[in-house]
Amino acid sequence: MKFIQSVIFVMVLANILPAAQPGVYGNNGVVVAHTQQACDAGIEILQAGGNAVDAAVAVSYALAVSHPQAGNIGGGGFMLIQMADGQSVAIDFREMAPGNATRDMFLDDSGKVVPGKSVKGGLAVGVPGTVAGLQLALDKYGSLSRQKVMKPAIRIAQRGFEIPYHLAYSFGWLNQSAAGFDETRRIFCRNGELYMPGDLFKQPDLAKTLKLIQKHGNVGFYSGEVAEALVKSNLKYGGKISLKDLENYKPVIRKPVTGNYRGFEILSMPPPSSGGIALISMLNMLEPMRFDSIGWHSAQHIQLLAEVEKRAYADRSVWLADPDYFDIPQEKLLSKAYAYYRMADYDSLTITPSDSIYPLNDKDLAKIQVLGHESEETTHFSVVDRWGNAVSMTTTLNWSFGSYVTVEGFGFLLNNEMDDFSSKPGEPNSFGLIGNDANAIEPGKRMLSSMTPTIVMKDGKVLVVLGAPGGSTIITTVLQVISNLVDFGMPLQDAVNAPRFHHQWQPDMIQFGPRAISKDTANLLQQMGYQLSERSAYGEVNAISRDRVFGGWVGAPDYRITSHGKAY
Ligand code: DON
Repeated sequence: MKFIQSVIFVMVLANILPAAQPGVYGNNGVVVAHTQQACDAGIEILQAGGNAVDAAVAVSYALAVSHPQAGNIGGGGFMLIQMADGQSVAIDFREMAPGNATRDMFLDDSGKVVPGKSVKGGLAVGVPGTVAGLQLALDKYGSLSRQKVMKPAIRIAQRGFEIPYHLAYSFGWLNQSAAGFDETRRIFCRNGELYMPGDLFKQPDLAKTLKLIQKHGNVGFYSGEVAEALVKSNLKYGGKISLKDLENYKPVIRKPVTGNYRGFEILSMPPPSSGGIALISMLNMLEPMRFDSIGWHSAQHIQLLAEVEKRAYADRSVWLADPDYFDIPQEKLLSKAYAYYRMADYDSLTITPSDSIYPLNDKDLAKIQVLGHESEETTHFSVVDRWGNAVSMTTTLNWSFGSYVTVEGFGFLLNNEMDDFSSKPGEPNSFGLIGNDANAIEPGKRMLSSMTPTIVMKDGKVLVVLGAPGGSTIITTVLQVISNLVDFGMPLQDAVNAPRFHHQWQPDMIQFGPRAISKDTANLLQQMGYQLSERSAYGEVNAISRDRVFGGWVGAPDYRITSHGKAY
């Protein structure tokens, strides 16, 4: 009885409850990722004495094999690391525009955006960053050798794995949409003799590439035969990447952006992701609001979040970009003063149409006084280890299977990340996101991202590790999971599984996933003037939280799509 009482007491104190029925529980570490093979790889490395960073590198390479739509060596991503000794870093291995990219490369002679040019084929490809990013993470924060952490991925590529239902489905879809991309269809679609669920999928070409990386590190990818084949395949489909671009690629160690929300410390990805700043600014806008009288997913709740999201995404469109090319007013955007100023015209009873929400201009920003210091396909995975180190990592080719260009003879796909740049000021990209000069294409620049690997801390210790895929919806997905935990006291698994909705300023509509908004709530919102648009399930959140009852870790794979968790 006493034990139960103290458990309940601890839970109430913690505010964040463990999952009622956690996906997985482990005393020594947990990995939550899209595929079982990736989870197995991560746990194998933890069991071999590796830390969370070693395991994350193993997971990432295993995803490149077992989740070819998004796991990659031909793309990029972000790794947010919180070490148990207090160090926190964000590793940016976002793709870069090739050296000869130009601002107008996706426009026709009359200055119009050419549909599809930034998403399919060679020109869509940014210089890949994953291999260099993983190497940097391992060198600085890992404890095992590259030889060791790459072993599981190479084994999976060589021996093959049974194709799960959803992967067979994706390959079928790829077969229909990748006409002309012969190498891609040869490898993933058996030239049209499609794989069935349960078939064994071996990738000897990819295994060869991984072995070259295992042996030679960055040199094995960014120069030599892999680099030459990459340039050749990219060129074949009209691309501009040169050997020099590959040699020049550099991952960057950045300082995570931080904020606090109702006593919890938030650590997230800085630019060139828009995710961390937009997330923290939205949490700041929500903080003065009282949730005790707001019903979860009531019209009032949805209206509040939609208004907050519109304001943050409006500012995203002009103020966020690659910080090495554009001066971001980061301190202001992260301040409570900005959130207060931004929400000054908020009225809980009415809609503010997106057309009357303007991105803040220089004059608006000058009015904000920061007082003192205030503290369809990407994949996210989370890892924690027995020492309390945590990795929150999101990685992507941008669209499912990226540009559709597979490097001939080497078995890996290239990203189509160039579409994350603003092809033309004010024109939406494939996620409907509007960009402007700040995110215009420039040689060597990193395109703005929405990926939001995040860690929530309490009293300096890791409490929750989370993130998501989903393009522009990533930031509002992470926001809702944090709010579900903090404002509605949901257990982690429920907070992850709960239906979600999304507003990104333009287009001016609330998009919502299956069963996220009831008919009568929809009616109330429509009466206020909101446009609603139902869409399929999105945003596979793969989260972990500290279990305050037993002291270990709870992993919550998102049940809405397909993901896995494994504990140690
Ligand atoms: O970096 C970004 O924001 C996008 N390239 C992410 C793409 C994505 O999440 C697609 N997935 N569903």
